[in-house]
Amino acid sequence: MMLTSKPVKGEEAHALGLVDAVVSPNELVSTARQWALDILECRRPWIASLYKTEKLDSLGEAREIFKFARAQAQKRAPNLTHPIVCIDVVEHGIVSGPRNGLYKELESFQELVRSDTCKSLIHIFFAQRGTTKVPGITDLGLVPRRVKKVAVLGGGLMGSGIATALVLSNYPVILKEVNNQFLQAGIGRVKANLQSRVKKGRMTQEKFEKTMSLLKGALDYESFKDMDLVIEAVIENVSLKQQIFSDLEKYCPPHCILASNTSTIDLNLIGKQTKSQDRIIGAHFFSVPSRHLLK
Ligand SMILES: NC(=O)c1ccc[n+]([C@@H]2O[C@H](COP(=O)([O-])OP(=O)(O)OC[C@H]3O[C@@H](n4cnc5c(N)ncnc54)[C@H](O)[C@@H]3O)[C@@H](O)[C@H]2O)c1
Repeated sequence: MMLTSKPVKGEEAHALGLVDAVVSPNELVSTARQWALDILECRRPWIASLYKTEKLDSLGEAREIFKFARAQAQKRAPNLTHPIVCIDVVEHGIVSGPRNGLYKELESFQELVRSDTCKSLIHIFFAQRGTTKVPGITDLGLVPRRVKKVAVLGGGLMGSGIATALVLSNYPVILKEVNNQFLQAGIGRVKANLQSRVKKGRMTQEKFEKTMSLLKGALDYESFKDMDLVIEAVIENVSLKQQIFSDLEKYCPPHCILASNTSTIDLNLIGKQTKSQDRIIGAHFFSVPSRHLLK
């Protein structure tokens, strides 16, 4: 849990011994006050884990476990420091005793909390939550329209990565290409992206098949009539993109968001020949190890 930063809900955290009690908001202050008094009067331990008595059979065995955990953490996230720090802290607690382990945790936490990684993760956390607040919509109690179906144009490097990210997020996706050979190559790239997750043990074969079944190929715009979002990722060519957006305007429903993954072309230029400037957007994706993220 520490190594993957997996969040847990209150009840589960309680069952795992991570939190002392789960109470309703009304009982919070009175329960906390009672716990504080109990600790002061030695009716409860200050930190329960300090008094745990279970022991590993040998330090040698523990070191082997730490060695394995470090190797796993480094393989999983080679650029992250904090999983390794977590392991160092737990090791320190086992070697030097729980009290020393807690001091080491405090010291390491204070260092990590000032790191650029921590600041960036906090920024992402609030930025993600910020996207659920849309001025003029959510503040008026309105619910943003749901995107149910997505089409991706172009199954090259970007298009196949974008389609992968979408099916992984459970969106049914139509991938359109210029001919069957390029279409099969695009679908093949999505398949390879997902298969690499299966190989790494991050996806079951069953989930792979289910995820893959969300992807359909197309060579025309026939199936675009009920799309909610189209993401264009064809080669970087102005007149081709202009033609495509004119076609999209014809084949997609009026509510459909028309997005371009262009790296350099002005969106106003791409939409010049359409009357849909109010629904043409830029959608940019990062390629990070084994997943693409919408920016
Ligand atoms: N490669 C990158 O790192 C990167 C990063 C950000 C943005 N982009 C942008 O993403 C877009 C795609 O880049 P890429 O690297 O994936 O290109 P790519 O050459 O790998 O793939 C483009 C695909 O589009 C297909 N295509 C061409 N015309 C089409 C049409 N009318 N309908 C459907 N498919 C069509 C081609 O057959 C090809 O498979 C470009 O606009 C590029 O600037 C690329």
